[in-house]
Amino acid sequence: MIKASNLTLAIVLLSLACCTNSTTDSPSESLVSSVSQSSANEELQTFTKYVDESGNIRVPADYRDWVHLGTWSLANNNEPGAGGIHVVYTQKGVAEHYEKTGEFMDGAILVKELLGAQTESLSTGIASSAKDVSGYFVMVKDTKGRFADNPLWGDGWGWAYFEVADLIKTTSTNFKTDCLGCHVPVKENDWVFVQGYPRLN
Ligand code: HEC
Repeated sequence: MIKASNLTLAIVLLSLACCTNSTTDSPSESLVSSVSQSSANEELQTFTKYVDESGNIRVPADYRDWVHLGTWSLANNNEPGAGGIHVVYTQKGVAEHYEKTGEFMDGAILVKELLGAQTESLSTGIASSAKDVSGYFVMVKDTKGRFADNPLWGDGWGWAYFEVADLIKTTSTNFKTDCLGCHVPVKENDWVFVQGYPRLN
């Protein structure tokens, strides 16, 4: 049974909380946003589930349940059949956070799945669709500089490529030589080719 006096106390406390908030608008707002950012971050579980304490990244086994950001189709007209399809995924909370802020949050993971392509004549026209997976590129956002000594981390991200045979151990050794050069054109977009992801534009 809730006593009437307790109830009154609760109401008084609630209204106090309400009025304190409304008089200190910006601090309470930033408190709220930092709380929601950190709980969203915990929800991602990036640094417990997908990255170990030394900064070794693995391919998230469940990435196909995540948000599909976009697909690249590599035409490769010079070498018919050599084209491919790249499909990019991220966690739901990451896409939502980016829509609000234009930034990738700590713990954001981008998975780019490389697939072969088959091209055929269908009733819609000449159409390409995805075949087998041939590898994975993974980027993990780190706003805290957690793994300064690990050569696969830097410029705000962890970087790794995986062959299909091993989703746990990367074949990449140094992000500066293995990755960064090609991503320079999109440095201003936090090194990500966001122009290919309608939801982030
Ligand atoms: C040969 C150039 C090249 C190299 C090397 C390269 N990338 Fe990329 N990467 C691209 C391009 C271009 C895209 C977007 C277009 C596409 O996939 O066709 C991309 C997209 C990605 C994406 C999807 C998110 C985004 O940025 O749009 C990830 C994840 C990624 N790369 C990770 C890596 C990692 C990790 C490495 C190093 C192990 C790496 N890349 C090396 C050219 C490169």
